[in-house]
Amino acid sequence: MKSIGLLCSGGDSPGMNCAIRAVVRTAINEGLEVYGIQRGYAGLLEGNIKKLDVSSVGNIIQHGGTILQTSRCPEFKEAEIRKEAAHILKRKKIDALVVIGGDGSFNGAYKLHSEHGIPVAGIPGTIDNDISGTDYSIGFDTAVQTAIDAVDKIRDTASSHERTFIVEVMGRKSPAIALHVGVCTGAENVVLPSEKVNIDEIAADVQRGVKRGKNSSIIIVAEGEKEGLSHEIRENLKSNYSIDSHVCILGHIQRGGNPSGVDRFIASGMGYLAIKNLMKGENSFVTAYRNGNVVAVPFTECLEKKTEYLPQYINLVKTLSI
Ligand code: F6P
Repeated sequence: MKSIGLLCSGGDSPGMNCAIRAVVRTAINEGLEVYGIQRGYAGLLEGNIKKLDVSSVGNIIQHGGTILQTSRCPEFKEAEIRKEAAHILKRKKIDALVVIGGDGSFNGAYKLHSEHGIPVAGIPGTIDNDISGTDYSIGFDTAVQTAIDAVDKIRDTASSHERTFIVEVMGRKSPAIALHVGVCTGAENVVLPSEKVNIDEIAADVQRGVKRGKNSSIIIVAEGEKEGLSHEIRENLKSNYSIDSHVCILGHIQRGGNPSGVDRFIASGMGYLAIKNLMKGENSFVTAYRNGNVVAVPFTECLEKKTEYLPQYINLVKTLSI
C-alpha cells in the first residue's frame, strides 16, 4: 500500500477534523501519500481529490465541521455508481480508502470493498451516536454539550417567566441526544423519535411540577420524521389542557462548534488506528469504541442503525424531575 484516500460523508460532526489530522499525520509517518477527497462520495465521483501534506491539517484540531467538507450522496446506493467510484480510485492510484461517517456512509464503503476489493477503514462520525457495533461516534459529546448549554439558558428565562418550553433536539431516528440532554438538564419529559407522543403524560408531568411549586418545565423532543412535531405538541397542550408553551428548535447549532476533549481524544485515536491497521494488511474494519478503548472490528458489525434505547434513562428523567 502506497497511498490512501480520505473522505467524510453524511452529516458533519465536531471532531471530524481531529480524525482527519490523525489519519493524515499517521499515514505520512508511515511513508504513505494521502489524498483528501472533498465533499464525500459526491466529490469522489467528480474526481475532487487533492494531495494532503503535514501542514494541510495544521491548526484544525480545535475546529468543528470538516476541512474536507461532506455531502449526502444517495446515488452511491447504486452498484453502477460504486463501480465508477472504484475506477476513479484505481485511476488515481489510491490503494485504500478511509471513510469518516455514519451507518449509511459505512454501507457504501463496505460495498466498495466487497464488490471491488478496495481496502476500507471506517471511522464512526455522527452526532447521533447511532451506529451499531460501536459505543461511541465522534461528535456526540460536543453536540450533547451544545444542547445542554442551550437548554440551561432556556431554563433561565423559563423560570423567570414561569413558562413551559418544548425544546427540539436533533436525532431524526436516534434517541441518544434527546435522552442525554433530558437527563442532564432535568427535563420534565422526553419525547423520543418514532415513539407515540403521549400528550396526557406530558401534560401530567407539567401539571405535577406546577402543583409542587416549580416555576418552569422543559420538554425535550427528538426531531421526528415529519417536521413540526414540537408545534403539534404545543397546540395539543393548549387545546386539551390549556397549557401555554413555547417551542425552541435547536437544529444545526448542534452539529457545529469546537470539539470537546472527549471528541478530540477519541477521534485522534480512531484516525491513528485506522492507518496502523491498514498498514498491517487489514482491509475491512471500523475503528469502534468499546469498553473505553478504540478497537478495530469487522465492518459487518457496524452497518446497521442503532435506534434502541435503554428504558432506564426515561425512568431516570422521570424519577429525578418529580
Ligand atoms: O448527522 C445526523 C443528523 O444531524 C441528524 O441528527 C439529523 O436528523 C440529520 O442529520 C439532519 O440532516 P441534514 O443536515 O442533512 O438535514
